[in-house]
Formats: sequence, C-alpha cells, structure tokens
Amino acid sequence: MRIVSGIQPTGNLHLGNYLGAIKQWVAMQDAMGPDDTCLFFLADLHALSQPVVAAELHANTVEMAATLLACGIDPARSILFNQARVPAHTELNWLLSGTARMGWLNRMTQWKDKAGKSGETQSVALFTYPVLQAADVLLYKATHVPVGHDQKQHLELARDIATKFNGDFGVDLFPLPEPLISKAAPRIMSLRDGSVKMSKSDPSDASRINLIDSDDVIAGKLRKAKSDADVLPETVAGLEGRAEALNLVTIYAALAGVKPDAVLAEHAGKGFGAFKPALADLAIATLAPVRDRLTALLGDRPAVAAALAHGAAKATALAAPTLRAAQEAVGLHL
Ligand code: TYM
Repeated sequence: MRIVSGIQPTGNLHLGNYLGAIKQWVAMQDAMGPDDTCLFFLADLHALSQPVVAAELHANTVEMAATLLACGIDPARSILFNQARVPAHTELNWLLSGTARMGWLNRMTQWKDKAGKSGETQSVALFTYPVLQAADVLLYKATHVPVGHDQKQHLELARDIATKFNGDFGVDLFPLPEPLISKAAPRIMSLRDGSVKMSKSDPSDASRINLIDSDDVIAGKLRKAKSDADVLPETVAGLEGRAEALNLVTIYAALAGVKPDAVLAEHAGKGFGAFKPALADLAIATLAPVRDRLTALLGDRPAVAAALAHGAAKATALAAPTLRAAQEAVGLHL
C-alpha cells in the first residue's frame, strides 16, 4: 500500500482534527507492513488559495508539523514534508491541468460553498485547488488516501483525472487512489452547539478543545459543554434528538478507541454531572502527553524544520520517476 494524505497548515489544531484525521494517520503508520509507504504532508501550497500573511503561513507550517510529530507521526517510518519543498507537486499539477475539465471543477461542492456568489473575486488557486490535490496523490501512485468525508469528492476527481490521463496518453501510469474514510473517524461537533462542526473558525474558544489547552482548560471546557438533564441511555439509538449528548459520548468513544455503545454500556443511567468528569479525566490523560510533546517541539523549531527537510528529500526521490514518466507520456522528453 502507498498511503498519502495532507492537511492544510492552518494553525490551532483541535480535537476534531485530531480524532477525525491525524489519529487515523498514526494508526495507519503503526499498522504499516514492510512493503507499505506512508507519506504525510502539509498542504502549504493549498493554503495559498486563501489570502495569506507570509509570517503566519510560515509559523503555521512549522506548528502543524510539530503537532503531527507530537501526535505520533514518526519521521523515521513515515515521510513527513511540506508540499512547497517538493516542486514535483506543482509540475505534475500543470500537466494534469491539461487533463482536468472546467466542468469537473465547477461541480466541486467545496468550490461552490467557498466561492458562493463571489466566484469572480476568488483566487484562481481556489478553483484549481483539486487539480493540485490530484497531483499530490498521483505523484506517489497512492493506493489509499485517508481523508474525512468532506474530501471524498476531491478524491473522486483525482480518480477521474487519472483515468482520463491514462486513457488519453495510452499509458498505465496512475493507479486509481481509494479514499479511506474511516468509520472510526467521527465528526466531532462544537461543545456549544451539537449541530455545527468543531472548528477553529468558531469565535467561541469554549466550542473546541485545542491540542495546546492546559489540563484545567480542558476540564473547564468539558464541564461547561452543552449537554442535557437526562441520563445516558443503554445504546446510541437512545441518543436520537440529543445532539450534544451524542457528541460527548462520541468524543469519549473516540478518545478511548471503543464504539459509542461500549461507552454507554459502562455509563448508562448516569447523568452528565457524573459523565463529564469521567470524560475530562480521559481527555486529559490522552491529550496531556500530546500537549507536552508539542510544547517541547515548539521550543525547538529548527529541529522540526530539519525533520521536514529530511522528508522532502525522500519525497522528491520517490516522485522523480513518476514525474518523468508523466512528462514523457505527454511528449515532454527533451
Ligand atoms: P484539511 O486541511 O481541511 O483537513 C485535513 C483532514 O481532516 C479532515 N477533517 C475532518 N474530519 C472529521 N471531522 C472534522 N471536523 C474534520 N475537519 C477536517 C479532512 O477531511 C482532511 O482529511 N484539501 C485537503 C488537504 C489536502 C489533501 C491532499 C488531502 C491537500 N492535498 C491530498 C488528501 C490528499 C484539506 O484541505 O484538508
């Protein structure tokens, strides 16, 4: 298996990103066999599709790399790098731009959502973003791409681009990448409103647990998290219509690495007065070591940058033959 995935360096990683994406990456790395390769990268080029402040993009990239390392991505086993340091991504992006169709990109829901009625004033990069994403995975002949549900359509587009490229140029260059949307990767919702995603753009910091939060802050946010006055039922079916209660049980289950029904089997009949402290204890026990490693890594940014440079060299070597074959396929031999 060739596993490839990326994350935008937006800064301030929270529990939703951790339980929804990064925990899966670490699990895949840990389950890797001798013939498998894992590549994980910071999609710093994708960040340019939105307005950026240079110093912030730079700091966020180092911080996100530190976060991935703190969460357990091991640069001795996985190839960890930032996209901008491997120019083959942008080169393949251009070759694939000749294959991707305007109509395909026009149908991307993320483009439609983000561009809304103001498409004319958006960056060209926001529109062509999924072509670069296709290049990211096809460059390494990825077989599996672990992502959240919101990225599924982008992966389908990568498959369409790969199929058309292979067909148009009569080559068998790109295998079709499979999106891996783990059922264990839950959608973590805001602590203040069970109907919206936990997100770094929520103006209320109390809506999310940040990976950098202290034990006291974690406990305080969970104590104040919105819940209800009922007791916990015996199965998840009993949580219907109780979005906040379901979210807290989901978080508990994801942190413990068990199914929500297993959490309920243990806590059925308890109210949130008893459940929340148990959840806080579990959250602190899981997140404190991540935070402590992250704090240490943030104190040694040159070491983080060196880890990325090391990964970029390995990624460049892996990408070179595919890029060369793609150039030859389209007639760029000289
Ligand atoms: P990004 O940076 O928005 O998100 C990174 C990963 O986290 C998942 N995710 C979530 N999963 C569950 N619950 C949530 N609340 C939640 N929020 C985010 C996303 O689905 C994603 O898997 N375009 C990509 C980055 C990218 C990429 C790639 C991914 C660029 N090239 C190639 C895979 C392969 C993005 O913006 O993800």
